[in-house]
Amino acid sequence: MNWRRGRRSRFAAGTIDALVANIKAHAPDHIAVTGDLVNVGLPAEYETALTFLASLGDGEHVTVVPGNHDAYVRSTAHHALLNWGDYMRGDGASGDVTVDEAFPFVRRRGEVALIGVSSAVPTNPFMATGRVGRAQLARLGTVLDRLGREGLFRVVLIHHPPCGPRPAHKRLIDAEGVRACLTKHGAELVLCGHDHRPMVEQLFGPRGLIPVVEAPSAAAGPEDKRWPGGYHLYRIERAGEGPLGWRCTMEAHGFAPGETGVALRTTRVLTAPPLVASS
Ligand SMILES: [Fe+2]
Repeated sequence: MNWRRGRRSRFAAGTIDALVANIKAHAPDHIAVTGDLVNVGLPAEYETALTFLASLGDGEHVTVVPGNHDAYVRSTAHHALLNWGDYMRGDGASGDVTVDEAFPFVRRRGEVALIGVSSAVPTNPFMATGRVGRAQLARLGTVLDRLGREGLFRVVLIHHPPCGPRPAHKRLIDAEGVRACLTKHGAELVLCGHDHRPMVEQLFGPRGLIPVVEAPSAAAGPEDKRWPGGYHLYRIERAGEGPLGWRCTMEAHGFAPGETGVALRTTRVLTAPPLVASS
């Protein structure tokens, strides 16, 4: 019912294929997938999603965090980790990590640290809420502090956006706690999914504003009533000394109403070293 009455008419494999081909043409160093990958959590859906992830790349080059649909029902909530473990395991972690302790995980790629947070919890019917939980939040604070002291560019991946407007049944239940954690311990970029619309919000952090970016759906066609499908391409580079010396730009690529092709739509500077005015 869930699939047939709604998403079947909006999401198409051909749409995904066109976006993935476009992503690959840009040869990114790394791909971050912020969920959802499946619809209602049937065991076979996780296998199909694994085939999709393999088409993006291996676990060294692709990182995944689960969405609420990826933990849709209690009986298969652990299947995301079971099937996609290679894509959501920290550097050096073994394969027998339990769901309770699997997040946040940390992956370092050069001077960039990817921090995978799970907000995916089973919910009652018609709900799409998320929750990070106190224990994971406490671990996230410790991890952010440690990586911040190392001077890395910290990219937090979390399916449910911790800020921005949305209906109550789609909210991150402990969003306030997540915002407080990011504000206290810091991050350079937060990437989310869930709302199927591209949005950039900002949070206060100890070193300045933290961009919080929501990705559009990767399966919605050009005429989608919420937002056409697309993806964001980030360029992260050193542009100065110290913790404020990062430059991060975001290109929004995707479909547009009335068109069939994937193209660059906007470019935006998210982070840049502060300019000092000369007298
Ligand atoms: Fe979602």
